[in-house]
Amino acid sequence: MTARAAATAPAARLTGWDSIEFWVGNARAMAGFLANSFGFTITAYAGPETGVADKASYLLEQGDIRVVVTSGLTPESPIWNHVREHGDGAHDLAFLVDDATATFEAAVARGAHPVDEPYERRDEHGVLRLSAVATYGDTKHTFVDRRDYAGYYCPGFQRDGVPEPATGPMVGLTRIDHVVGNVEDGRLGEWVAFYEEVMGFTQLRHFDESQISTEFSALRSTVVTNGRGIVMPLNEPADGKRKSQIQEYIDTYRGPGVQHLAFRTDDIVQAISSLRARGVRFLAANDEYFRDVRERLGFLDLPWDQLQRLGILVDHEPDGHLLQLFTEPITDRPTVFIEIIQRGGARGFGEGNFKALFESIEREQARRGNL
Ligand code: FE2
Repeated sequence: MTARAAATAPAARLTGWDSIEFWVGNARAMAGFLANSFGFTITAYAGPETGVADKASYLLEQGDIRVVVTSGLTPESPIWNHVREHGDGAHDLAFLVDDATATFEAAVARGAHPVDEPYERRDEHGVLRLSAVATYGDTKHTFVDRRDYAGYYCPGFQRDGVPEPATGPMVGLTRIDHVVGNVEDGRLGEWVAFYEEVMGFTQLRHFDESQISTEFSALRSTVVTNGRGIVMPLNEPADGKRKSQIQEYIDTYRGPGVQHLAFRTDDIVQAISSLRARGVRFLAANDEYFRDVRERLGFLDLPWDQLQRLGILVDHEPDGHLLQLFTEPITDRPTVFIEIIQRGGARGFGEGNFKALFESIEREQARRGNL
């Protein structure tokens, strides 16, 4: 660790996830999709009716998860440049902090690129203090200090006027488990250094292409964490016989960006049953996967028939097991997708499933002519 990194690091001030904001072409439609398909509740709206002239935002909540979807209302809006370049995508990975100014100053002093100098948003409920620095691609990290704000989410957002609640079976997503970024070929080391040396995160795990590869494509991945609930794997493409799925993402998204959001549940059988009933489409492992996994892990006391019927993947590590399943991309460009995960002690990311998962992704890649 460098001498600079020995001073108070931003990570020490990050207390958890605040929210994830998507910049999209049609916020109303994306909000409706996330509510109807994924069981989120639209809890607040900001737009011209609430005094925000140039954009429309919907806040969606489920458990402790907060997602905001925002679209621009004028052609001059920077949101449209982002959407033109990337399609719909996650623009802001926002963290709760104990001091937005001190966190920003610590990050910038250590080499972070400033995006939003510390600023305040006020209303009758108090003052919300914010700042932001850049991370990979056009993505940023906003630091959100809610200590002196008793209002709801952010000034400008109101509970009035949100669409009627969607109906459907309860999904039961509880929190953000991890958020994965895809970065440029050859730059994984730089981005890991950014999170370690600038942000003060630590490395949790590293996988290389010998652990994550199929016959056709490969990737390298390093997981960084602030040690207080924020966990962010970073992927870069590695050479394979064909185009890495990470390279397909980067080509399609036109640069690095958020690959997937993993949401935790305490009951994945209920969650996946409900999501399937709501029409969510998942990547499918083949029958061979379930023959193999039941042979390897059949000693685990799990509802195997239900898991197989619902297509839920199972992984096991010395510290426990995990159950997971990945959706198809949720945007028109094949970029960002969602993972549903239930942890039974395992702290990993489903390494044992990566090969099965990637073969499934590659079947979709081949259908798009990108393999
Ligand atoms: Fe994941």
